[in-house]
Amino acid sequence: MEQFLRGVSLVGSGSAYLPLTLTNHTLSQLVDTSDEWITSRTGIRQRHLVSHGDSLGTLASQAARQALAMAGVEPGAVQLILLATSTPDDLFGSACQVQADLGATQAVAFDLTAACSGFVFALVTAAQYIRTGVFQTVVVVGADVLSRWTDWSDRSTCVLFGDGAGAVVLQASDRDRLLGFELCSDGSLNDHLKLPYQAVPDPLTPELSVQKGGFTPIAMNGREIYKFAVSRVPQVIEKALFRADLTTGDIDWLLLHQANQRILDAVAERLQVAPDRVLSNMANHGNTSAASIPLALDEAVRAGQIQVGDTIAAAGFGAGVTWGSAIFQWG
Ligand code: UT7
Repeated sequence: MEQFLRGVSLVGSGSAYLPLTLTNHTLSQLVDTSDEWITSRTGIRQRHLVSHGDSLGTLASQAARQALAMAGVEPGAVQLILLATSTPDDLFGSACQVQADLGATQAVAFDLTAACSGFVFALVTAAQYIRTGVFQTVVVVGADVLSRWTDWSDRSTCVLFGDGAGAVVLQASDRDRLLGFELCSDGSLNDHLKLPYQAVPDPLTPELSVQKGGFTPIAMNGREIYKFAVSRVPQVIEKALFRADLTTGDIDWLLLHQANQRILDAVAERLQVAPDRVLSNMANHGNTSAASIPLALDEAVRAGQIQVGDTIAAAGFGAGVTWGSAIFQWG
């Protein structure tokens, strides 16, 4: 009889390489800011931008391909591709493009949008398909090209964001290494961070008009999002840890959405996690939205920081607003 493996293991990670770099110094030539302000308020020193000829889809495919190579999994064995993104190449979705690029012909593929929480939401969603025995091999990608939607004349937002993509491969296993999770949304705070569609009426006939408009650049109330993150993220991690029957003392690595070094420090302090247990790559990448967690995970795995069996408390937070935490063991 076929054995149903309903535990979830994370068996490979990958990220896209973006050679184009935008430093704080260059930004200070575009808007009224300085390296000193950006570094001291955010911890960001540079961010990477998508190159001409690349797209959200090509970055996502690159990250997925690397993750599959690390996992030793052939694209043909993948059954589901979940692409967490808010910046698809096509509003109908970009995951199918990734499926085609990879040659993952047996996989169903779709996009999932939860802004900077997207990767955590997608990881948990993917895990449910494995736990219910539907799929055995899944690729989860977090990718965003926020540079497309950044107002490059707005110093309060343009210094924060970068482009990127990261991916993980999940497989069914006899032991469940997704130990606990908690996901949250609060649409009443939506106005604090948005990339809204602005409708412009376009008359078809004197009586009938349709909406023809476009998306307007990212608008954020930084202070409110900061307060939201510092208060809600520790709570959601504690809830996820509770579900995992663990405490903060059991965490090897705290892996937060890379929005602001001050947020990472404040959350770690509230949870009493030592600074050397907090993964941070934002000095090099800035805030890459759905990509930030898998990108930091992949860098830490490849650097040998994260070892097989390590317990990681990941947490995403951002527009929606959405926030969530997943506690998992690597490998
Ligand atoms: O991924 C989604 C999640 N996003 C976040 O988590 C972002 C959360 N928020 C933050 O990280 C911070 O609120 C920011 C980094 C966005 C801003 O830092 P802050 O310490 O909250 O600064 P502030 O907005 O309170 O602004 C302080 C001052 C203001 O000047 P005045 O009014 O005091 O004269 C701003 O106009 O800094 C000014 N300012 C800047 N100055 C130089 C704002 N942006 C800049 C800038 N360069 N780039």
